[in-house]
Amino acid sequence: MLKSNMKKHPKIVSTQYEIHPLLLDRWSARSFSTKPIHIETLNHLFEAASWAASSMNEQPWRFVFGAKDSELFSLLYSTLAGGNQVWAKEAQVLIAVIANTHFPDGSMNLHAWHDVGAASTYLLLQAAELGILGHQMGGFNREIAESLLKIPNNCNIVSIIALGYRDSHELLPEPFKTREITPRTRKPIHAFVFDSLDKLSL
Ligand SMILES: Cc1cc2nc3c(=O)[nH]c(=O)nc-3n(C[C@H](O)[C@H](O)[C@H](O)COP(=O)(O)O)c2cc1C
Repeated sequence: MLKSNMKKHPKIVSTQYEIHPLLLDRWSARSFSTKPIHIETLNHLFEAASWAASSMNEQPWRFVFGAKDSELFSLLYSTLAGGNQVWAKEAQVLIAVIANTHFPDGSMNLHAWHDVGAASTYLLLQAAELGILGHQMGGFNREIAESLLKIPNNCNIVSIIALGYRDSHELLPEPFKTREITPRTRKPIHAFVFDSLDKLSL
Protein backbone atom coordinates (compact mmCIF):
# COMPACT_ATOMS: atom_id res chain seq x y z
CA MET A 1 0.00 0.00 0.00
CA LEU A 2 1.46 3.37 -0.95
CA LYS A 3 0.64 6.34 1.23
CA SER A 4 1.71 9.88 0.56
CA ASN A 5 1.54 12.97 2.72
CA MET A 6 1.84 16.53 1.50
CA LYS A 7 -0.19 18.23 4.23
CA LYS A 8 2.32 20.58 5.78
CA HIS A 9 5.17 20.56 3.30
CA PRO A 10 6.11 20.22 -0.35
CA LYS A 11 7.92 16.92 0.23
CA ILE A 12 6.47 13.79 -1.32
CA VAL A 13 6.70 10.89 1.09
CA SER A 14 5.70 7.39 0.11
CA THR A 15 5.54 4.62 2.67
CA GLN A 16 5.10 0.92 2.19
CA TYR A 17 2.85 0.70 5.27
CA GLU A 18 0.66 3.31 6.85
CA ILE A 19 2.21 5.18 9.79
CA HIS A 20 1.06 8.05 11.98
CA PRO A 21 0.84 11.25 9.88
CA LEU A 22 2.86 13.19 12.48
CA LEU A 23 5.87 11.01 11.69
CA LEU A 24 5.67 12.20 8.10
CA ASP A 25 5.14 15.82 9.10
CA ARG A 26 8.56 15.90 10.75
CA TRP A 27 11.26 16.51 8.20
CA SER A 28 14.54 18.36 8.03
CA ALA A 29 13.57 21.67 6.45
CA ARG A 30 16.02 24.45 5.60
CA SER A 31 13.76 27.33 4.62
CA PHE A 32 12.54 29.21 7.69
CA SER A 33 10.19 32.19 7.88
CA THR A 34 10.75 35.33 9.94
CA LYS A 35 7.87 34.41 12.27
CA PRO A 36 9.33 34.14 15.78
CA ILE A 37 8.80 31.12 18.02
CA HIS A 38 7.50 32.29 21.38
CA ILE A 39 8.99 30.95 24.60
CA GLU A 40 5.58 29.52 25.56
CA THR A 41 5.62 27.47 22.36
CA LEU A 42 9.21 26.39 22.91
CA ASN A 43 8.30 25.15 26.36
CA HIS A 44 5.78 22.78 24.77
CA LEU A 45 8.67 21.28 22.80
CA PHE A 46 10.88 20.92 25.87
CA GLU A 47 8.00 19.38 27.81
CA ALA A 48 7.55 16.85 25.01
CA ALA A 49 11.29 16.06 25.05
CA SER A 50 11.15 15.36 28.77
CA TRP A 51 8.68 12.49 28.20
CA ALA A 52 11.15 10.37 26.29
CA ALA A 53 12.19 7.14 27.96
CA SER A 54 15.70 6.96 29.39
CA SER A 55 17.92 4.39 31.03
CA MET A 56 17.25 4.43 34.81
CA ASN A 57 14.99 7.44 34.12
CA GLU A 58 18.22 9.45 34.27
CA GLN A 59 16.97 11.97 31.69
CA PRO A 60 20.51 12.78 30.54
CA TRP A 61 19.40 15.50 28.11
CA ARG A 62 20.17 19.19 28.53
CA PHE A 63 19.13 21.90 26.06
CA VAL A 64 20.69 25.34 25.67
CA PHE A 65 18.85 27.54 23.22
CA GLY A 66 19.38 30.92 21.63
CA ALA A 67 16.58 32.86 19.94
CA LYS A 68 17.42 34.78 16.77
CA ASP A 69 19.56 37.90 17.36
CA SER A 70 20.59 36.73 20.83
CA GLU A 71 24.20 36.24 21.90
CA LEU A 72 23.64 32.50 22.32
CA PHE A 73 22.23 32.22 18.80
CA SER A 74 25.35 33.90 17.39
CA LEU A 75 27.59 31.72 19.50
CA LEU A 76 25.96 28.46 18.36
CA TYR A 77 25.74 29.70 14.78
CA SER A 78 29.47 30.47 14.73
CA THR A 79 30.27 26.79 15.40
CA LEU A 80 28.22 25.44 12.46
CA ALA A 81 29.84 23.99 9.35
CA GLY A 82 29.82 26.41 6.40
CA GLY A 83 27.17 24.45 4.48
CA ASN A 84 24.84 24.56 7.47
CA GLN A 85 25.45 28.28 8.08
CA VAL A 86 24.04 29.11 4.63
CA TRP A 87 20.48 28.16 5.62
CA ALA A 88 20.60 28.00 9.44
CA LYS A 89 21.03 31.77 9.67
CA GLU A 90 17.30 32.11 8.97
CA ALA A 91 16.33 29.78 11.84
CA GLN A 92 14.40 31.41 14.67
CA VAL A 93 16.00 29.29 17.36
CA LEU A 94 19.19 27.25 17.63
CA ILE A 95 19.38 24.58 20.32
CA ALA A 96 22.51 22.84 21.57
CA VAL A 97 21.50 19.30 22.53
CA ILE A 98 23.73 18.07 25.33
CA ALA A 99 24.16 14.58 26.80
CA ASN A 100 25.31 14.04 30.36
CA THR A 101 27.23 10.82 29.76
CA HIS A 102 27.68 9.92 33.44
CA PHE A 103 25.43 8.86 36.30
CA PRO A 104 25.58 10.83 39.56
CA ASP A 105 27.91 8.15 41.04
CA GLY A 106 30.45 8.89 38.31
CA SER A 107 29.92 5.68 36.30
CA MET A 108 29.35 5.96 32.57
CA ASN A 109 25.83 6.07 31.20
CA LEU A 110 26.28 4.01 28.03
CA HIS A 111 22.79 4.94 26.83
CA ALA A 112 23.09 8.69 27.25
CA TRP A 113 23.37 9.54 23.54
CA HIS A 114 20.60 7.05 22.74
CA ASP A 115 18.26 8.68 25.25
CA VAL A 116 19.16 12.20 24.13
CA GLY A 117 18.34 11.16 20.55
CA ALA A 118 14.95 9.95 21.73
CA ALA A 119 14.30 13.25 23.55
CA SER A 120 15.31 15.21 20.44
CA THR A 121 12.87 13.16 18.40
CA TYR A 122 10.03 13.85 20.84
CA LEU A 123 10.90 17.55 20.68
CA LEU A 124 10.83 17.52 16.89
CA LEU A 125 7.56 15.59 16.68
CA GLN A 126 5.88 18.05 19.05
CA ALA A 127 7.32 20.86 16.93
CA ALA A 128 5.85 19.28 13.78
CA GLU A 129 2.47 19.07 15.50
CA LEU A 130 2.68 22.84 16.12
CA GLY A 131 3.73 23.60 12.54
CA ILE A 132 7.38 24.16 13.44
CA LEU A 133 10.11 22.37 11.56
CA GLY A 134 13.46 21.43 13.03
CA HIS A 135 16.73 20.42 11.45
CA GLN A 136 19.27 18.50 13.47
CA MET A 137 22.92 19.11 12.68
CA GLY A 138 26.01 17.09 13.44
CA GLY A 139 27.93 19.50 11.23
CA PHE A 140 29.40 21.80 13.83
CA ASN A 141 32.80 22.14 15.46
CA ARG A 142 32.28 20.15 18.66
CA GLU A 143 35.57 21.17 20.25
CA ILE A 144 34.89 24.87 19.79
CA ALA A 145 31.21 24.56 20.73
CA GLU A 146 31.98 22.66 23.94
CA SER A 147 34.66 25.19 24.85
CA LEU A 148 32.40 28.21 24.16
CA LEU A 149 29.55 26.67 26.18
CA LYS A 150 31.97 25.60 28.94
CA ILE A 151 30.69 22.01 28.72
CA PRO A 152 32.31 19.86 31.46
CA ASN A 153 34.05 16.54 30.76
CA ASN A 154 31.03 14.47 31.80
CA CYS A 155 28.94 15.95 28.96
CA ASN A 156 28.95 16.18 25.15
CA ILE A 157 27.12 18.34 22.68
CA VAL A 158 25.32 15.75 20.56
CA SER A 159 23.75 18.01 17.95
CA ILE A 160 22.56 21.51 17.23
CA ILE A 161 18.93 21.88 16.14
CA ALA A 162 17.65 24.73 13.97
CA LEU A 163 13.95 25.53 14.43
CA GLY A 164 11.51 27.70 12.55
CA TYR A 165 8.19 27.93 10.78
CA ARG A 166 8.51 26.94 7.15
CA ASP A 167 8.94 29.34 4.27
CA SER A 168 9.16 28.80 0.50
CA HIS A 169 12.00 26.72 -0.87
CA GLU A 170 12.37 29.43 -3.52
CA LEU A 171 14.15 31.59 -0.94
CA LEU A 172 17.05 29.14 -0.66
CA PRO A 173 20.17 29.17 -2.83
CA GLU A 174 21.14 26.02 -4.70
CA PRO A 175 21.75 23.19 -3.96
CA PHE A 176 19.44 23.63 -0.96
CA LYS A 177 16.50 24.90 -3.03
CA THR A 178 16.37 21.63 -4.97
CA ARG A 179 17.00 19.50 -1.87
CA GLU A 180 14.09 21.18 -0.11
CA ILE A 181 11.62 19.69 -2.60
CA THR A 182 13.39 16.42 -3.37
CA PRO A 183 11.26 13.49 -2.14
CA ARG A 184 12.43 11.94 1.12
CA THR A 185 13.49 8.33 0.80
CA ARG A 186 14.15 5.43 3.16
CA LYS A 187 15.61 1.95 2.88
CA PRO A 188 12.92 -0.70 2.44
CA ILE A 189 12.09 -2.69 5.58
CA HIS A 190 13.76 -5.86 4.27
CA ALA A 191 17.11 -4.05 4.14
CA PHE A 192 17.22 -3.61 7.92
CA VAL A 193 14.80 -6.12 9.47
CA PHE A 194 15.68 -9.84 9.61
CA ASP A 195 13.97 -12.93 10.91
CA SER A 196 17.01 -15.18 10.63
CA LEU A 197 20.73 -14.79 11.34
CA ASP A 198 21.49 -16.33 7.91
CA LYS A 199 19.87 -13.35 6.24
CA LEU A 200 21.29 -10.74 8.62
CA SER A 201 23.19 -8.13 6.66
CA LEU A 202 25.25 -5.76 8.78
C1 LIG B 1 22.44 13.47 14.28
C2 LIG B 1 22.08 14.12 12.97
C3 LIG B 1 22.99 14.96 12.35
C4 LIG B 1 22.65 15.62 11.16
N1 LIG B 1 23.52 16.53 10.62
C5 LIG B 1 23.13 17.29 9.57
C6 LIG B 1 23.95 18.36 9.12
O1 LIG B 1 25.00 18.68 9.67
N2 LIG B 1 23.48 19.08 8.06
C7 LIG B 1 22.31 18.80 7.41
O2 LIG B 1 21.96 19.49 6.46
N3 LIG B 1 21.50 17.80 7.86
C8 LIG B 1 21.88 17.04 8.92
N4 LIG B 1 21.04 16.06 9.40
C9 LIG B 1 19.75 15.82 8.76
C10 LIG B 1 19.73 14.52 7.98
O3 LIG B 1 20.45 14.69 6.78
C11 LIG B 1 18.27 14.13 7.72
O4 LIG B 1 17.66 13.82 8.95
C12 LIG B 1 18.16 12.92 6.78
O5 LIG B 1 18.61 13.27 5.50
C13 LIG B 1 16.73 12.42 6.67
O6 LIG B 1 15.87 13.46 6.26
P1 LIG B 1 14.57 13.86 7.11
O7 LIG B 1 15.05 14.31 8.47
O8 LIG B 1 13.95 15.00 6.33
O9 LIG B 1 13.72 12.68 7.21
C14 LIG B 1 21.38 15.39 10.57
C15 LIG B 1 20.48 14.51 11.20
C16 LIG B 1 20.80 13.90 12.39
C17 LIG B 1 19.78 13.01 13.07
